[in-house]
Amino acid sequence: MGLAQEASRVAAEFEYSDAQVNKAVKEFIRQMDEGLEKSGTTMSQIPTYVTAVPNGTEKGLYMAVDLGGTNFRVCSINLNGDSTFSLTQSKVAIPKELMVAQTSKELFSFLAKQIATFLQTHHGEHYHATIRRRATIHSESGFEEREIFNLGFTFSFPVQQVGINKGTLIRWTKGFDIADAVGKDVCKLLQDEIDALHLPVRVAALVNDTVGTLMARSYTSPGKTGTLLGAIFGTGTNGAYVEKLDKVKKLNGSENSDNVDRTTGEMIINTEWGSFDNELRVLPNTPYDNSLDKETPNPGIQMFEKRISGMFLGEILRLAIVDLVKERKTGLFSDDNSSSNDVHSTTCLAENSPLWQPWGLDTSFLSIAHGDNSNGFKVTRQTLDKDYGVHAASAEDAEAVKLIAAAIGKRAARLSAVAIAAVVLATDKLSSPQDIATADDTPVNEDEMVDIGVDGSLVEFYPGFEEYIREALRQIEGVGKHGEKRIRIGIAKDGSGVGAALIALVADKLAKQAQLKEYGEE
Ligand code: GLC
Repeated sequence: MGLAQEASRVAAEFEYSDAQVNKAVKEFIRQMDEGLEKSGTTMSQIPTYVTAVPNGTEKGLYMAVDLGGTNFRVCSINLNGDSTFSLTQSKVAIPKELMVAQTSKELFSFLAKQIATFLQTHHGEHYHATIRRRATIHSESGFEEREIFNLGFTFSFPVQQVGINKGTLIRWTKGFDIADAVGKDVCKLLQDEIDALHLPVRVAALVNDTVGTLMARSYTSPGKTGTLLGAIFGTGTNGAYVEKLDKVKKLNGSENSDNVDRTTGEMIINTEWGSFDNELRVLPNTPYDNSLDKETPNPGIQMFEKRISGMFLGEILRLAIVDLVKERKTGLFSDDNSSSNDVHSTTCLAENSPLWQPWGLDTSFLSIAHGDNSNGFKVTRQTLDKDYGVHAASAEDAEAVKLIAAAIGKRAARLSAVAIAAVVLATDKLSSPQDIATADDTPVNEDEMVDIGVDGSLVEFYPGFEEYIREALRQIEGVGKHGEKRIRIGIAKDGSGVGAALIALVADKLAKQAQLKEYGEE
């Protein structure tokens, strides 16, 4: 078989049909329901204790930090109260060794130091004034209330939340692995290190990035309707949505049910859908998916995420490429001038090419290859040459790689559509009587829109990701063409900053209400 046919054969392994998509949506809804009923299920469906989404009128100065991907971000956010905000931020790459540190203290003290540096740089006056006052007043209770920054802590890993600023780590994901943090309250881990540096900061809220995205989108989105779902398609993937409180059955009778504010009758649920179908009942599975899973620190877990998100797609493609290179008859990256029998010398892939190394291919390469419409796929060939030690790739090589990359990206988008459709259908957002009666081409008016906020490198940079999602949505029973038009997907940048600030604000309000109630009762 020629290279082009071989590439088509591999690409076909990543096809995910309409029928499979529909079957997966049903299973997704079943696993969502199961997760609302009891603990310990595949999809965790974590109650967040956040019971309302903002409407854009919120005001105040808050801080937020974000741990959960490649970078650690510290920000301060001024909410202007008119759907706008201003944000100051600093960002550092998290040193790889801290992701797998021996003790959680190493990681959390690093985070607290970044907060100190940020305060000194951007809020120096406030910082030095409070430190000075603290030194002269010697107050037992430390800082006065008004001097303290309320901070929203975006911590994007599965956490068993027991209150708005309290929750224990269930497991690490996305390559982090620090054993002694599992089972601990991550807000306390951070607060202890903040206190050790005497910073005027209180960890007021614990926030998953998806919840932050949902809040941020709700604050900024057009129209009066609140946002239903916040979703991340980045290093990892996950979603948080607004659920009816009475459907969250596992909260009833739980020891934390007293911490629940019942005024809105709703609560935001962090699905942790990255672990949807770890059992592989409905998920597609290729030999490349299998090999990748074995290379991770958490085999058998986060199986949905491992087929969708940025941390993994590059590795799936690398495994497919290496397979083709090793099967020399396909001719991928072959060095026509060589007659040796050793694979390293019959290929134009340098011996030290990152492509020979697990995790050596970055997911951004998929976007480059998929989006390459240059003559002879010049852009892809240049990237292969410059970044990946493939020095004489032909146009046919680049085309083959593009075909496979596109198939992997398209499968990821179709899987993303499964999650989106399942949440929309499970919350009954599309079943209004006029839906059944309306023709596919009837225009949709503003009030009928189901709003979804998204963030992450895939939705932001992968060419056509949203269009692939939409193509799949149109084929989903209960969504169809008209339903797909009603789903408005908007990028919610800075969800983990402004979203976390908004939750810190809600937390602060709830704490004050509780205090007032206590005084009233005395
Ligand atoms: C992983 C984490 C989840 C997070 C997602 C996106 O799936 O477990 O908490 O929301 O990545 O960052």
